[in-house]
Amino acid sequence: MADLAVFASGNGSNFEAVSEHLAQSPHRVTCLVCDRTGAGALRRAARLSIASHVISYAGRPREDAEQEILGILRDAMVDVIALAGFMRLLSASFIETFGGPILNVHPSLLPRYPGIGAIETSFHSKDNELGITIHEVDHGLDSGPIVLQKSFRRTGRESLAEIEQRIHELEHRWFPDVIRRFLDDAPSRQHWRM
Ligand code: GAR
Repeated sequence: MADLAVFASGNGSNFEAVSEHLAQSPHRVTCLVCDRTGAGALRRAARLSIASHVISYAGRPREDAEQEILGILRDAMVDVIALAGFMRLLSASFIETFGGPILNVHPSLLPRYPGIGAIETSFHSKDNELGITIHEVDHGLDSGPIVLQKSFRRTGRESLAEIEQRIHELEHRWFPDVIRRFLDDAPSRQHWRM
């Protein structure tokens, strides 16, 4: 069994999809880390009975917020982190100190359209093929080694809402699957215990 922490800033639909998937596995979502009070992800965590932690980044250096998060991860012996719509960059020092895998899902075919608003930017592009990227995280903006990309061809007649729905369907189908694979491998690493 391995422990996952999910970081989210917004609606939390990926957080919920991951939690539901892992409920059918030996692994578990140990906690939600959220940087915004009022985020939909927090309501989902309460409904799913998953512990949540609101970490304020306002008015203090990012390093202070990250130290607080590291304390939570260490107490919970978290093996893997999943960023599910977490709209903050993690410092190189945080990534190194955590030491385990950190995965991110992004709603475009990286390296195209990193950052916020990727679905809208993809939609307004002339690209015929749109999709999602799941990657390991480094300290850059939606950068790091790509683990999986999934795409679909659009006709050009879809609305933005339809494209958004297809992208979220891909995320909810594949992000839990990739996370599960990393959790399956986690016991051999046990990075907190070294
Ligand atoms: C998802 O589409 C995810 O790919 C995106 O935020 C959304 C969160 O939705 N992440 C990024 O853009 C990261 N740069 P959710 O809160 O419903 O899971």
